[in-house]
Amino acid sequence: MKTFALLTSLAATALAQNVFVNLPEGPNIAAGSDVIVQVTRPNSLTGSREIAVAIGIQPCYNGRCLPAESTLGTVLYNGPYTPQIHEWSGLPYENFTVTVPTDLAKGTAIVGVAHATLIGAANWAFLEVVNATATVV
Ligand SMILES: *[C@@H]1O[C@H](CO)[C@@H](O)[C@H](O)[C@H]1NC(C)=O
Ligand SMILES: *[C@@H]1O[C@H](CO)[C@@H](O)[C@H](O)[C@H]1NC(C)=O
Repeated sequence: MKTFALLTSLAATALAQNVFVNLPEGPNIAAGSDVIVQVTRPNSLTGSREIAVAIGIQPCYNGRCLPAESTLGTVLYNGPYTPQIHEWSGLPYENFTVTVPTDLAKGTAIVGVAHATLIGAANWAFLEVVNATATVV
């Protein structure tokens, strides 16, 4: 029972770790340009320590997008994640400036973010993948 309670609380904690990604400069991104990818981490109750994030982009074909969980496409960033509170009321986030590949197919694309973090005193390793939709112009 103790184990079950522990797992349940870890799972509940994990839900509270979910980051989200958005493209503050709009869904339209130009191939070959620099764009800001903003990764926000909600405040969590228990301590968690960031490992890293990887940011990728993959074009969709005929409106069909592969799940970001199975492929990040072209990796645009892979490294440390240090979200910080910047605005008076906001959640901690980090802006990543990445360069959209010049040869990326026009149309809908998926920006995927893989986020790894260590949760709680036991340092439970947690990995999640979130995404945002972009339009390559
Ligand atoms: C992150 O990017 C957004 C959109 O460009 C901008 O409004 C905000 O000030 C940036 N934050 C930081 C800390 O640079
Ligand atoms: C993007 O994330 C949403 C919400 O988790 C999910 O429903 C959707 O399948 C994801 N899309 C891709 C292409 O991974």
